[in-house]
Amino acid sequence: MIYTLGSINIDHFYRLPHLPAPGETLAAESYRVGLGGKGANQAVAAAKAGAKVEHIGAVGPEGGWAVDRLAGWGVGTRHIARSTKATGHAIINVDARGENAIVIFPGANRALDLADVERALAAAGQGDILLMQNETALQVETARAAAEKGMTVIYSAAPFDAQAVMAVLDHVTVLVLNAVEAVQLAAAMNIGLDRLRVPELLITRGAGGAEWRAATGERVHVPAIRVAAVDTTGAGDTFAGYFAAARDEGHSPEAAMRLAAAAAALKVTRAGTADAIPTRSEVDSFRAEQA
Ligand code: RIB
Repeated sequence: MIYTLGSINIDHFYRLPHLPAPGETLAAESYRVGLGGKGANQAVAAAKAGAKVEHIGAVGPEGGWAVDRLAGWGVGTRHIARSTKATGHAIINVDARGENAIVIFPGANRALDLADVERALAAAGQGDILLMQNETALQVETARAAAEKGMTVIYSAAPFDAQAVMAVLDHVTVLVLNAVEAVQLAAAMNIGLDRLRVPELLITRGAGGAEWRAATGERVHVPAIRVAAVDTTGAGDTFAGYFAAARDEGHSPEAAMRLAAAAAALKVTRAGTADAIPTRSEVDSFRAEQA
């Protein structure tokens, strides 16, 4: 079972010829709205991968459709609180090469109550996974509670904040960073990445693939699958959700990374976030085509 603590956002997508420069006004070529938020995306990715997922988060009074959409993808929603604060939202600019620039408004995502989180994790224990990122409140408290129960804590440290990562590190089993974040964290802690006190470190390097290092010294590298990028938004969330689901199924880190890399590559060929994350059967067909 996977518990996801994470943001639920209303994503506003603007397709642009290029990302706006300071002071520039640009007309979008298209506009659409969808379900997003790094937490919701990860929950949907894990559920589409086939895992049993229970999401912990919050929406505002106008966020009922987002909860319904999560439920529609098979995510458990009984621990999603209804806040008086507005549902979180994201302004996502996507350029012609599929790169993005995102502004988030946290809203209800930061209005979580520890008692709700503790209730959500009441039945969780060894063999269960907590998957979380950095867009809500209560990351440290939730990770600590999960670690005390013997759960595996997978922490995708995005959006990156070195202080937030350092605060949660003692409770983390698998720390997921992209290449830039890994360098930033090493600089902030003034140590080499090999000296990080974390059982497993997973670094995603875009076209450079993904690298996994265990505290035991074991290392795995998995190459990226080359695709024509339409929209890279949510690719990291797709990777994290699929990786967690594969580990929950009992797969090795390498097998989990290969599945996650294929899911993320397929996502990049599609515009959007949660709705655009591929299902397990789509990922399986995609992998068969690549073989
Ligand atoms: O990682 C992509 C996500 O970041 C978007 O869905 C947006 O809501 C922000 O949280």
